[in-house]
Amino acid sequence: MSTTTRTTGGAIGASLDRIDGPQKVTGTAPYAYEHHVDNPLYLFPIRSEIARGRVTGIDASAAEALPGMVTVITHENAPQLADTSDRELAILQSDEVAFRGQYIGAVIAETFEVARHAAGLVEVSYDEEPHEAELRENDSDLYTPEQLNAGFPTDTEEGDVDEAFSSAAVTLDERYTTPMEHNNPMEPHTTIALWETGNLTLYESTQGAHPVQRTVAQVFGLDRNRVRVVAPYVGGGFGSKGLPHANTILAALAARMIEGRPVKFALTRQQMFTGVGYRTPTIQRIQLGADEEGHLTAIDHDVIEQTSKIKEFAEQTAVATRSLYATQSRRTTHRLAALDVPVPSWMRAPGEAPGMYALEAAMDEMAIACNLDPIEFRIRNEPEIDAETGLPYSSRNLVACLREGAKRFGWKDRDPSPRARQEGRWLVGTGVASSTYPVFRLPGSRATIRYEGDGRYAVEIGAADIGTGAWTALIQISADAIGVSIEDINLRIGDTTFPFASVAGGSSGITVWGSAIFEAARVFRERHGENPSEGDEVQARTPDNPETENYAMHAFGAYFVEARVDVDTCEVRVPRMAGVFAVGRIINAKTARSQFIGGMTMGLSMALHEESLVDGRFGHVVNHDFAEYHIPTNADVGTMDISWIDEDDPYVNPMGSKGIGEIGIVGSAAAVANAVHHATGVRVRDLPITPDKLLR
Ligand code: MOS
Repeated sequence: MSTTTRTTGGAIGASLDRIDGPQKVTGTAPYAYEHHVDNPLYLFPIRSEIARGRVTGIDASAAEALPGMVTVITHENAPQLADTSDRELAILQSDEVAFRGQYIGAVIAETFEVARHAAGLVEVSYDEEPHEAELRENDSDLYTPEQLNAGFPTDTEEGDVDEAFSSAAVTLDERYTTPMEHNNPMEPHTTIALWETGNLTLYESTQGAHPVQRTVAQVFGLDRNRVRVVAPYVGGGFGSKGLPHANTILAALAARMIEGRPVKFALTRQQMFTGVGYRTPTIQRIQLGADEEGHLTAIDHDVIEQTSKIKEFAEQTAVATRSLYATQSRRTTHRLAALDVPVPSWMRAPGEAPGMYALEAAMDEMAIACNLDPIEFRIRNEPEIDAETGLPYSSRNLVACLREGAKRFGWKDRDPSPRARQEGRWLVGTGVASSTYPVFRLPGSRATIRYEGDGRYAVEIGAADIGTGAWTALIQISADAIGVSIEDINLRIGDTTFPFASVAGGSSGITVWGSAIFEAARVFRERHGENPSEGDEVQARTPDNPETENYAMHAFGAYFVEARVDVDTCEVRVPRMAGVFAVGRIINAKTARSQFIGGMTMGLSMALHEESLVDGRFGHVVNHDFAEYHIPTNADVGTMDISWIDEDDPYVNPMGSKGIGEIGIVGSAAAVANAVHHATGVRVRDLPITPDKLLR
């Protein structure tokens, strides 16, 4: 069977330097805004200053009088879009305002400076209506979405949860909250849009060139082949670039009005805090029941989160709780509040990251209540099969990760009592948490392999490398799939000119793109043998994996954290974190390590730093810059000990790999929170753990 064919070429697994590294450090790898275009214009958006209501008047006379001004676009003169069913994307189609910061117009000018200045001169009047922009637990309008992101069911129940709680020897019932967070890749969302003779070209900072092509074609009512999206290099993407947002439509609308000249639009850092998605805040209640020996008998995880009135996004916060631990009874629920806010969306491990913070903090509390070491408590509740599907795991090595991590980190002599260790001003504690992330398989990707003579093969697929190392990993995969060395591969990605590739999201890229390449290589050999002629070419699609019917496929990991808390100021420092992963085969040790470090750093950040603060009176995020929305710098991050266990999974895909982009953040915030509790004896259940909460 093709899915179990293993490669022996040796390129997969090599710790190869990034092949795009030299171009990136010399500044010759063009990011979206840097593509050379002739005679560009610059766009600066006009954004609503109210959270709900209507635009009643726009006076652009002062703006239009500026030298270098080209035009002002508003709903009064914007072209009509063909498909307005996605209300996040249907901008400038009416006078309606659905959230503060929504695009209600744009200024186009000869320079960025003139565009920005002119946008500030446009006077807008509104008819304002009352709005609600803050998530409240007691919101009377909470509703049950039909399904969750990625198609997961909204609520699940197995066994008799209520009966299990009433007869449990040990119970826990706690509430955990996580804040709104915003994606902050170093490169902001950026587009250069150019209309020429009915064809639209977009140089776009995106996690998926083809998904952008399809959406934009639909919104504008164009044939797909009239839209080309180019994205060879992307300066980071944590989910916000996974789906096109209104900024891309705005740039395309402007370019259509100015046919023939390219329009450049890069969001400012402040604009990144509106309209490109964000992690919903969550309010989570977790109830756990266990018997005298510390075997879980009941798990209940109930989630409240927000969505936007114009478009539903229902995050899958409690899905990991559906299978991580063994129990006879289990319930999960998700409820949404629809608010006058921008549409929430993906941010690294949407669902698992906030949900596993709560579950793994609760597991720490429960271990203490059961008088068990938190590692032993988890091992005691290791399941035989995946409770959600009833299937065995293709491979599950969570216990091995916990044991290996305990050894590497030095867990053995830990005094379980909180606040037991002080070194000078510092209270010192350690914490642990588990991690899991599903192996997603998105349909439809295709790869082309063409023999280009002299032993060289072209491999073409529209995949995006968002900084993860996909350029390098896909060359390694191609070399082994075709049976040549990496020098013999001409890889071409990041452009809709190449075959369709699904989004770099859900940690699925290597699984589906790599499978397409392996399939193309198999068909190529079948048709053209070992001695092909120049120009011989094959295109193949990611095949279905029949093993997904037989096995549940998930990646696992375990984190260990040392936290130090200043006894007076409650400043928290994290001098060391360890992560051990069971993620199938590692394609490239060097780039994989970077993914784990990045994910764990983001978990550390989730635990201690990140929080978007909404001013409910106006409906916007007030700390919308790097001065006030803190993401970690080198000074915040200590030693990261990254390792993985040798995991041989013959079922997941031909590479034997599981996705690694997201698992690093899942559970790592809980490990930090658990270490802070162990250091101080204070259990903060509302992220981020800022000093004020420890002082209380
Ligand atoms: Mo990632 S949040 O799946 O783009």
